Amino acid sequence: MEEKNCFPCDEPIIDKAPPCPLQCHSPKCKAYMSRAPVDTSKKPIVWILGGPGSGKGTQCEKIIAKYGFTHLSTGDLLRAEVKSGSDRAKCLTSVMERGELVPNDVVLELLKEAIIAHAEQAKGFLVDGYPREKSQGIAFEKTIAPVTVIIYFEASSETLTKRLLGRAASSDRADDNEDTIKLRLKTFLDNNEQVLSQYPDKLRRINAETSVDQIFDEVQKILDPIVAKAAAAN
Ligand code: AP5
Repeated sequence: MEEKNCFPCDEPIIDKAPPCPLQCHSPKCKAYMSRAPVDTSKKPIVWILGGPGSGKGTQCEKIIAKYGFTHLSTGDLLRAEVKSGSDRAKCLTSVMERGELVPNDVVLELLKEAIIAHAEQAKGFLVDGYPREKSQGIAFEKTIAPVTVIIYFEASSETLTKRLLGRAASSDRADDNEDTIKLRLKTFLDNNEQVLSQYPDKLRRINAETSVDQIFDEVQKILDPIVAKAAAAN
């Protein structure tokens, strides 16, 4: 097969069969990086939302165990970035310790890199803790793909505070302390309704004050038909 280079970046194409200009797989290539990384008819994208301590991480573990989705928690991605000591990490630690939101472009870039890295083998994506602000959702759908469904775990501030303070006793997270928990809650309450109101048709609310298993029963009622539809399209 003849040698081909990618247009427009001119990187050599690694996988030459079938010949396709986007097969350079190079982060330098504008065409490759701006392509839609996920076909959501086959790989659903689920946003998992809720206040700090609402059980997003707990339910994501159960969803992964049942459906095998790829889990992308923006909090975990950011903590991993902080640990890496990269240039990008330098501004993150203090923002997270203040319970504020990390700049949108940093979060979106981390998410996009992770989605591209898993796009081939993923069965679907669980995007946990994103969007937390109106413009994050708009940027995600414009840059990556439309969201399939949004699951929102609803609980009172009292419940959220009680759970986080309970976890603080054994947690090594820098933001699990009384002062930062208050700030995390404020950041959440300041932005939440604006985020949710953008998606009246895709939003599914679940009462997150009940037991972990009762909540997961509700999650399955939402995800079972979506996963069945995606399986039929594959
Ligand atoms: P992140 O790591 O996402 O933290 P969070 O949203 O504050 O949520 P948590 O991870 O603390 O709680 P959770 O809802 O996952 O609950 P969990 O299952 O652990 O974000 C951290 C920071 O990163 C942010 O403050 C921000 O600075 C930054 N960031 C993240 N995303 C960003 C974004 N998109 N843009 C900008 N910045 C961003 O459960 C909590 C506890 O409750 C556990 O002890 C658990 O065992 C217990 N529990 C769970 N369910 C139940 C239940 N049903 N009944 C009783 N107990 C329960």
